[in-house]
Amino acid sequence: MLTDEFTSAVRSLYVPEMGTEATAPLLYWLIRAIRPRRVLEVGMGYTTPFLAQALRDNADAVARERELLGSEQSRVEQPMAHAGYYEQPYEPQLVCVDRMTDPNSSAPRALPVLDGLGLSDVVHVIEGDLRGSSGEVRDRFGLVDLAWIDTWDTLAFLREYWQLIDPAGGMLAMHYLMTYPEGRAVQAYVRSLGRLDGGRLEITNLCEPHKTGQNSVTLVRRIRDYAEPEDLRPQGAANDPTGVLGELPVEVR
Ligand SMILES: C[S@@+](CC[C@H](N)C(=O)[O-])C[C@H]1O[C@@H](n2cnc3c(N)ncnc32)[C@H](O)[C@@H]1O
Repeated sequence: MLTDEFTSAVRSLYVPEMGTEATAPLLYWLIRAIRPRRVLEVGMGYTTPFLAQALRDNADAVARERELLGSEQSRVEQPMAHAGYYEQPYEPQLVCVDRMTDPNSSAPRALPVLDGLGLSDVVHVIEGDLRGSSGEVRDRFGLVDLAWIDTWDTLAFLREYWQLIDPAGGMLAMHYLMTYPEGRAVQAYVRSLGRLDGGRLEITNLCEPHKTGQNSVTLVRRIRDYAEPEDLRPQGAANDPTGVLGELPVEVR
């Protein structure tokens, strides 16, 4: 969890000009919500322990929920639990790529902080340029569930790593593509990749309106091969508590 101990351990990694003060906890909670198994970070620093801690907390939560499944207690604590979800093992891993050459970056200092927080076993670091490192990422993961990219080389990343993002719901989070022309060009490139996926791509820009730079996160979700599981709720298709289905035109029901 993002305890006081965690917050004080990671404080030394925070570099104001990197602008990830809100993004780091945002990524933590994104991971807590979508529970990815294979996470890739390109551009380490303050964000790194947030990603690793989220995976550790997810693993602890899954273990605890698995034990609770079917018990009286679970009806109170996780009344919407999806039993099928717990059939797969959950042993998440974070792979980080960083060339460790930026004197302003706290990337090299992230490693001892991870150690101190007992998170090193969740993290594998590839020290080197992102260009040419995708093969190692592929060997380790196959496909990636969530990639977080925080460098000026986002275009090079997209060219080399796009096919590693799982087309069945894999997500990509990119820092600071809004409010400057080159960032907008990268976004246009992402949309062109989306056309290759037959338009099956979801994109959301989150802007921090009080900042002039390092002020956005762009979230992309590949859904080319994603099939939503239907009617997980016990009532199934008959469930229409608000009556909205009856009000929709027949062709969109
Ligand atoms: C903006 S900083 C990352 C900030 C970090 N996410 C944080 O929250 O503090 C960018 C990092 O990316 C790394 N980097 C930049 N270009 C790279 C490349 N082409 N390949 C690998 N690492 C790169 C730098 O060494 C630096 O550590």
